[in-house]
Amino acid sequence: MKSFAAAFLTLAAARVASAAVTKRVTCATGQTTANAACCVLFPVLDDIQENLFDGGECGEEVHESLRLTFHDAIGFSPTKAIFTDIFNAGGGGADGSVITFDDPETSFPANLGIDDIIDAQKPIIARHNITPGDFVQFAGAVGVSNCPGAPRLEFLLGRPVAKAASPIGLVPEPFDTITDVLARFAEVNFSPPEVVALLASHTIAAADHVDESIPGTPFDSTPGIFDTQLFIEMQLRGVLFPGDGSNPGQVESPLEGIIRLNTDATLARDDRTSCTWQSFVNNQAKMQTEFRAAMAKMAIIGHSRANMIDCSDVIPVPKPVVGKAHLPAGKSMHDIEQACATAAFPTLTADPGPQTSVPAVPPS
Ligand code: HEM
Repeated sequence: MKSFAAAFLTLAAARVASAAVTKRVTCATGQTTANAACCVLFPVLDDIQENLFDGGECGEEVHESLRLTFHDAIGFSPTKAIFTDIFNAGGGGADGSVITFDDPETSFPANLGIDDIIDAQKPIIARHNITPGDFVQFAGAVGVSNCPGAPRLEFLLGRPVAKAASPIGLVPEPFDTITDVLARFAEVNFSPPEVVALLASHTIAAADHVDESIPGTPFDSTPGIFDTQLFIEMQLRGVLFPGDGSNPGQVESPLEGIIRLNTDATLARDDRTSCTWQSFVNNQAKMQTEFRAAMAKMAIIGHSRANMIDCSDVIPVPKPVVGKAHLPAGKSMHDIEQACATAAFPTLTADPGPQTSVPAVPPS
């Protein structure tokens, strides 16, 4: 009898727990979500997709919005804040200061070019009841979901309005040494493998300002797809400068139409990071999982997860990756500069046809 009662109670408790997990709310707009507080995001989602991302594309504005999530979040320095908490002198991390205090933040050298996406985002923020800090990370997560092959990123709601601008000098530059880059990330509690995982972002990326003679030049041959080509192509021997020659932070590219950052090339070859870099080659699932985890951490720098509401179910589910991991046409395994000392670079075959030349990402 006692054990029957215990079993009954356990079952009842399990039912209550499962109802708590599965109970969803229906918002006034018709969509469902796990938490009523997330309903405010659906009109923002529609506005972003329609008016920022050209109806749901993985184009320039998505790339720029993803870059903005980083430039906002990395603006946090516990050491600079030690004696100056009340003035927020160490920066607030992912707090939207890049928008609230775009003057001075857009004038910081490492932020060159982010004013375009800030100007595009500001009117959308003004139309909704959302803080700039939440908007920046939300737009990044929605944008990434437009790119085939991307993981569905976490989104937590609840960043207060920024109190002060970020200090200058916290965003890494492509001419920084890897020791400096890893030290900067370590200050906000990111390990070298997490840094490499974050750099998966450069698989949907292009540069306008590294070489201004060739704006829109991507970092890999498939800037509209969240695939592992960046990790493959970064390991190819550099042979040319695609534009007007060598610029600060730039090293030789393997192909016409691709631009290569010194930091990316060095992370792919440095003993501290090269094996993680190589581990993402042709391993879409590992790249997705680790990028998602690192982005989840980055998006709440300066905040406590416990004070935020999980609205991840508002983020659209991305489409599967398009195409297979490959070497660009005209390249072979002889062009790979093996760097990881403990595992061989995966064997890949090249696309058929003449040497690949990559078109620029068109501005929209
Ligand atoms: C070592 C760290 C990093 C360095 C030195 C770096 C540097 C750069 C540079 C120089 C550009 C080109 C900007 C331009 O000329 O238009 C760029 C673009 C970009 N970065 Fe990074 N980045 C780093 C990390 C990250 C991280 C962690 C993310 C996001 C999680 C990110 C996302 C992007 C994206 C999406 C673009 C493309 C923007 C566009 O196409 O308009 N980067 N990055």
